[in-house]
Amino acid sequence: MPALTSIRTTGDSKIEIVNQLLLPHTTEFLEINTIDEAHDAIKTMKIRGAPAIASLAALAFAADLSRVSTTLASPEDVRSYVTPILAHLYTARPTAVNLGAATRRLTAILDASIAAGKSAKEICNDLISEAHKINDEDLSRNKSMAKWGGDWLADVVKQNGGSGIELNVLTVCNTGSLATSGYGTALGLITYLHETGKLGKAYYTQTAPYHQGSRLTALELQTLQIPSVMICDTMVGSLFQHHNIHAVAVGADRIAKNGDTANKIGTYNAAVLAARHKIPFIVVAPISTVDLSIADGSGIPIEHRPPLEACLVRGAVYPPPADGAGKQAVVMLTPPNLSLEGIYNPSFDVTPAELITAIVTEKGVATRREGETVFDLSGVV
Ligand code: MRU
Repeated sequence: MPALTSIRTTGDSKIEIVNQLLLPHTTEFLEINTIDEAHDAIKTMKIRGAPAIASLAALAFAADLSRVSTTLASPEDVRSYVTPILAHLYTARPTAVNLGAATRRLTAILDASIAAGKSAKEICNDLISEAHKINDEDLSRNKSMAKWGGDWLADVVKQNGGSGIELNVLTVCNTGSLATSGYGTALGLITYLHETGKLGKAYYTQTAPYHQGSRLTALELQTLQIPSVMICDTMVGSLFQHHNIHAVAVGADRIAKNGDTANKIGTYNAAVLAARHKIPFIVVAPISTVDLSIADGSGIPIEHRPPLEACLVRGAVYPPPADGAGKQAVVMLTPPNLSLEGIYNPSFDVTPAELITAIVTEKGVATRREGETVFDLSGVV
């Protein structure tokens, strides 16, 4: 079965996303026709995953600019039109740096094209083509990261006396084709191991409270027919005590200059337990996720989702009726009228660099020097 997709485009301006709030029980494509619709889809998690939200922002920007470009007469008209749009898109979610990296990259193109004395039409064309590049380049870099990381892991296991095959890898959240433009980051590494005959099983946490693991990673692994085991978030320690797990592989929303990494809530727990059990902990993310302007994890902005979201579970009514899939349902877990002030709901946590064994980007694998607790990422960015 072909891999799932988060965004599909037709021609220059038709964009559709799969509504990830309804997966895995209902596949509904939503048209994104305006910047506000793109912003809303990102903010409300209809599309999520750091690279995918940057792709949607870039594609929606390109489609919008294609529609209005003939009305923009001068380079300054283009600047006045696009600057607030880029600023608005940037505010949709705060932690994933890819969104900011995409809007900054488009601003840099705007500045360079204006400085080069280009016409309004040429500037718009440059911006539209750069926006498409942001989406297009994601797939190939994911495949590079997966190969770098997968081969590195197999070698490390062999150096430690293992066979380098039947590797069992735990992941957190969803980092596959639904979170990117295809193949995925950490889930890409797992897919690569499977395709090259080196995977034992993929293990994944449910990833409460949004359940990206049990709703989305489960669906991706099932679609790709990759042998897998789901665990509740609370079972990571037990898994490490009772099963032979060769690595933890996770994605990232932002990596600070020293290697501290923000990723889905629960990643830090898995990293602490991996260190305790001497299991390699691998972060797989594109170079655009590294934010050299932030010295360490304390400077990474952490998104707190609305408290109510932590009280709800999304799914389908069970058991399903005889005539098909169960009706979509959002169910409340908590007592009615529980004070929302009593709910803690950070969407991400920061794993300190000293707990990370390797950071894999499309350029290769970075590891910490012997005795160092931080990374020198200058070689990979
Ligand atoms: O809140 P989400 O679902 O957008 O969080 C996603 C993650 O934390 C992913 O691990 C990260 O974006 C990397 S996706 C390739």
